[in-house]
Amino acid sequence: MGALFLSASAAAPCLPGEKLEPMPAEAPTAPYQGVIARYRAHLRLPEGAAPVTLLEGNTPLIPAPRLGAQLGCELYLKFEGLNPTGSFKDRGMTMAMTVAAAQGAKSVICASTGNTAASAAAYAARAGLKCFVLIPEGKVAAGKLAGALAYGAQVLQVQGSFDDALSLVRQLTDRSDREAGGRIALVNSVNPHRVEGQKTGAFEIVDALGRAPDWLCLPVGNAGNITAYWRGFREYQKLGRVTKLPRMFGVQAAGAAPLVLGHPVDYPETVATAIRIGRPARGEEALTAAEESGGQIVAAPDMTIMAMQHRLALEGVWCEPASAAGPAGLLQEAQAGRLDVSGQTVVCIVTGHGLKDPDAVTARMAPPLVIPPNLDALEAVVG
Ligand code: F0G
Repeated sequence: MGALFLSASAAAPCLPGEKLEPMPAEAPTAPYQGVIARYRAHLRLPEGAAPVTLLEGNTPLIPAPRLGAQLGCELYLKFEGLNPTGSFKDRGMTMAMTVAAAQGAKSVICASTGNTAASAAAYAARAGLKCFVLIPEGKVAAGKLAGALAYGAQVLQVQGSFDDALSLVRQLTDRSDREAGGRIALVNSVNPHRVEGQKTGAFEIVDALGRAPDWLCLPVGNAGNITAYWRGFREYQKLGRVTKLPRMFGVQAAGAAPLVLGHPVDYPETVATAIRIGRPARGEEALTAAEESGGQIVAAPDMTIMAMQHRLALEGVWCEPASAAGPAGLLQEAQAGRLDVSGQTVVCIVTGHGLKDPDAVTARMAPPLVIPPNLDALEAVVG
């Protein structure tokens, strides 16, 4: 199969007089097969379960030197937007769907602010299971809704918040567990297999850096991801892969910050719709992760989040608004003198791709200039 594809350098045209050097022989490497294949020894899975995978994970740790210089730290962005459906959710979904299929579920269901919906839809399609997703009416970014529809899920808009939708799917699956033998599986991050899969992000960071970072910074919504990362680092510590654990730095949007306020938020509101959540299902675990690690959870206002989205894009990494909340909170706290990361290694989890929410950019920017199709007009702009 490899012979069908030319590598970029082999395909490059030869200049006149230039000799084409033979390609150096490369040792064959096993093709990457997704997070379950890579980390199976560390994941709790029914024996013999065949992975439902789209080759998720293995995402890059991209240095962000300009923002890092401003913070005085070595800063990396783990770009989870490069997963198959454009967000970190795929790490957990490969696990949840593998278990659901192995246990004979006929369909899956989730509540979602959008990314879980797209991921569940894709992995259910892959597994041949029917997928239902409940989303808050009118509050899901275009790329996520389109994804869920494209992958063939039945999408239901709930006249309420994500929290209302999650409450509904929990009631439904509780009843199905009691009365119908669990034929419909809940694949939100309250599903323990989701957290198991998502902890592989922590493993990858340690495997890439050779140690844990000093700080791990990420946005917090329903609080599954911060729980998963903390678990991953601690498990690697037990195995002797890391000696020092990172401090967990979680960031909520100011209009949806129950963990910072210390009470649920009935009407959460933020431009970062992915984390527009007022009653995080794993809120207690998030607080424990922050406390045990000597970290913190802070809130960042929408304007700060959007400014950081723009900033990261100017380093070449375009993420959705929620993903910018992490570094936005980090910079905000550093500038206020409440946090000092100088000389430290910081990894920010960039949870979702900017393509998920194109309106967040286009709605805020002036439309591109329109010019007539002639050179004078072009030169007048370009100079
Ligand atoms: N970033 C993005 C892009 C997300 O989609 C989410 C959660 C988070 C951060 C927060 O992660 O919930 O584990 O604390 N999205 C969920 C969803 C709620 O339905 O797609 P969390």
